Amino acid sequence: MNLVGIIDKLKNTRELSDDEWEALLAAEDEDTLSYLSSCAREVRESIYGKAVYIRGLIEFTNYCKNGCYYCGINRSNKNCDRYRLTDEQILACVREGYDLGFRTVVLQGGEDPYYTDEKIVSLVRAIKEMHPDIAVTLSIGEKSEESYRAYFEAGADRFLLRHETATEEHYAKLHPSDLSLSNRMNCLRTLRRIGYQVGCGFMVGSPFQTTKNIIADLRFIKEFHPDMCGIGPFIPQKDTIFKDEPAGTVQMTLKLLSIIRLLVPDVLLPATTALGTVDPLGREKGLKAGANVVMPNLSPVVVRSKYALYDGKICLDSESAECIHCLSARVASAGYEIVVDRGDHKNA
Ligand code: 5AD
Ligand code: FES
Repeated sequence: MNLVGIIDKLKNTRELSDDEWEALLAAEDEDTLSYLSSCAREVRESIYGKAVYIRGLIEFTNYCKNGCYYCGINRSNKNCDRYRLTDEQILACVREGYDLGFRTVVLQGGEDPYYTDEKIVSLVRAIKEMHPDIAVTLSIGEKSEESYRAYFEAGADRFLLRHETATEEHYAKLHPSDLSLSNRMNCLRTLRRIGYQVGCGFMVGSPFQTTKNIIADLRFIKEFHPDMCGIGPFIPQKDTIFKDEPAGTVQMTLKLLSIIRLLVPDVLLPATTALGTVDPLGREKGLKAGANVVMPNLSPVVVRSKYALYDGKICLDSESAECIHCLSARVASAGYEIVVDRGDHKNA
């Protein structure tokens, strides 16, 4: 089958054979890539129109008990200047975000034992009391079912937990042995069962990633049918063992965004900050390839550079208000429009 035929098959049946996946993932010619992205755009617009949802990211702690090899805030990095935001600082970020039109905040942090379940629960409650119409997304890693339930009962709506890679052997090359893919996958299924809108995802071009690994990621995503899916290029961080590894490419990231849009038509798909870091127009290109979410940073500017998962991160010096203005213009230039909306998942 030719590549157009493969893309049509993907669009119509959401399934490809190994050979078809290999061919599509290897494709580099302009005509094929632009056909793929126009199919993804068409599907995105049929469900979400021209709307782009914004999520205000609050990076509230860069302490982490995990040793993920790719990540700049992993526990072994002695050069990482650690910080925690106070509840007051976090609530001030939420208030500012609300005034700027955000109706979703994402509390993201390393796995920091300082934030006990009680602390997270009271934070979620405080946000919901202040602004009942705001959706609260947590991105705080692997926890027990009881913990996840407690946050949900406190009012948390969504949870982001990238699966990172759906292949055991690859997972083991990116993480120390105290972390396992099976636990991560169990967490995702538990979150789903509790009732969260759930996001998974992976890095494009992470060290040792093969085409077969990507095919496994895509099959997992199709099967899991996440509400959200975060993918962005891997970018080396200077204090990690992967500091000399090459970054993931813009082209592969855009191709995968389009493919994921076709596999899970109603997915909420961000054009990530990492994509905007490897290419100044990365986020605009991501939106044109089928993404429908952007996640600007609401963290206080004084701590931004300390949340250095990877090198070269953008927006480190821009106040939240500047970022949202900048982003509105960028989204408009791609032909889309930021909306003031919780931006819940739409079952298509
Ligand atoms: N490059 C790109 N993305 C990274 N992440 C962590 N480290 C890096 C890196 N070096 C991603 C992981 C994690 C998310 C919060 O950030 O996928 O789940
Ligand atoms: Fe932050 Fe452009 S989006 S400065």
